[in-house]
Amino acid sequence: MIERIKLKNICCIGAGYVGGPTMAVIAKECPNIIVNVVDINKDRIDSWNQIESKELPIFEPNLNEIVQKVRGKNLFFSTDIKTKIAEADLIFISVNTPTKEKGFGAGQASDMRFVEASARTVSEYATGHTIVVEKSTLPVRTAEVIKTILNESVDRKSNKANFSILSNPEFLSEGNAIKDLLHPDRVLIGGENEDAIEALAMLYKNWVPEEKIIKTNIWSSELSKLAANAFLAQRVSSINSISEICEATGAEISQVSKAIGTDTRIGSKFLKSGPGFGGSCFKKDILNLVYLCRYFNLNQSANYWEQIILFNSWHQQRISKLIVRKLLGNIANKKIAIFGFAFKANTNDTRESPSIYIVKDLLEEGAIINIHDYKVSKEQIDKDLKNLQKNTQVQQSNNWCFNKDLLENVNDADAIIILTEWEEYKHLNWGNIATLMRKPSWIFDTRGILDSDLLKKFGFKLWTLGEPEQ
Ligand code: NAD
Ligand code: UGA
Repeated sequence: MIERIKLKNICCIGAGYVGGPTMAVIAKECPNIIVNVVDINKDRIDSWNQIESKELPIFEPNLNEIVQKVRGKNLFFSTDIKTKIAEADLIFISVNTPTKEKGFGAGQASDMRFVEASARTVSEYATGHTIVVEKSTLPVRTAEVIKTILNESVDRKSNKANFSILSNPEFLSEGNAIKDLLHPDRVLIGGENEDAIEALAMLYKNWVPEEKIIKTNIWSSELSKLAANAFLAQRVSSINSISEICEATGAEISQVSKAIGTDTRIGSKFLKSGPGFGGSCFKKDILNLVYLCRYFNLNQSANYWEQIILFNSWHQQRISKLIVRKLLGNIANKKIAIFGFAFKANTNDTRESPSIYIVKDLLEEGAIINIHDYKVSKEQIDKDLKNLQKNTQVQQSNNWCFNKDLLENVNDADAIIILTEWEEYKHLNWGNIATLMRKPSWIFDTRGILDSDLLKKFGFKLWTLGEPEQ
């Protein structure tokens, strides 16, 4: 018998790319519920709270408008984690779960320290019946770990808190977060306790049609998230592999994508070739799946999924090598302009961006790199390049600069590489750019967004991923 739990106050631990937008949308759609977003990172919370600046810590189309409407009414950002946990009927754990850098499973397993720390804080400060929801992407059977931590505290403490644990993975994609949250393909809830499942389902039913709410057991829910990302990444690697075959045979990737995508069983989405998948999750989640397979001795499955990642890295290096080859086998002291550093358009996120790896390759070959992006800051690029240097132990040249002025970036450059599909790049004054560059002037369009006929008119040499040589 389902006993209705009425949620009045929820708390989200983690004010990042998922926690921030997801809670903003919940606050907007559920005006009667108090939504607190907490984080240990004070700077991040301060930027979410900044009234003057229009710049939130993350860029997402339409996020700012929603935050302006609900912040201070029923949406609050705070570092007072203890109080907000104590007040909450339901707590989302939405902290980062990066790949482990050292120790057992390093390079594959998820680093669970932030999730465990969150569970321990919840166990310490929660009061009354509290629903704890895994929003972060987690290895299958993490709910068991969380349960163990929470039940320990129930045994130990006298505050009479008791817990129900649910899995409710997030499927939003960056740059489309608000659209995805407002109109999700599905909301997945995994768990055992029917009252808790119903309480979370009721929250979503404020704006999500009931038929889109899928209920499963908790392990299916955890695994479905990893599997969904693995399938999506696999499609990107598949189309990028076909792009290479196109270049070798004279087929055109844009035509092939369209031709295969019209088969309703295949579908047209996620068939755009590019510089390889980036973003914080595809690689990490597949590695997690590979680790899980190996743990259960499922080695053929592990190898199968691992190949998606190996291919992605290989594909990025193929692009770097091709650029060097086209620029007469030598790019030492040649100026190369990078257009786009975010891992995809409409986000300022650079995690695992293909630009990081391609810029690293070109710097190693001695090029002078001028980087442009509409949303990424110089400080972020600096951090990304230094991190990579630290991880690969390769002493890399620092011969790069960041410039918001595109024309300054292309002045005297031998080549432009389009790495992020920012809409604005399609509409630049390419005639003007042609006059500023050294000849021969190369454009490497890894996203297939530019008008090749127009560029040819201005005398550019153009290479487009997956398209026949011009
Ligand atoms: P993020 O790094 O942007 O944000 C995580 C936040 O958690 C950080 O601000 C960090 O300071 C905070 N945090 C860490 N430990 C904490 C603690 N003990 N107490 C309080 N705060 C703490 O990460 P994200 O991109 O929002 O991803 C979060 C999770 O969601 C990950 O598991 C990720 O795989 C998953 N996910 C991400 C996306 C995406 O588009 N980025 C989409 C779906 C799922
Ligand atoms: C992805 C998934 O799409 C989300 O459902 C999931 O919630 C999220 O990961 C996550 O778990 O973090 P995201 O990484 O934000 O979202 O962005 P995507 O749009 O999936 O793009 C990922 C990468 O694949 C990007 O580098 C993008 O440029 C590339 N891509 C995507 C292609 O090269 N071609 C395509 O056709 C689609």
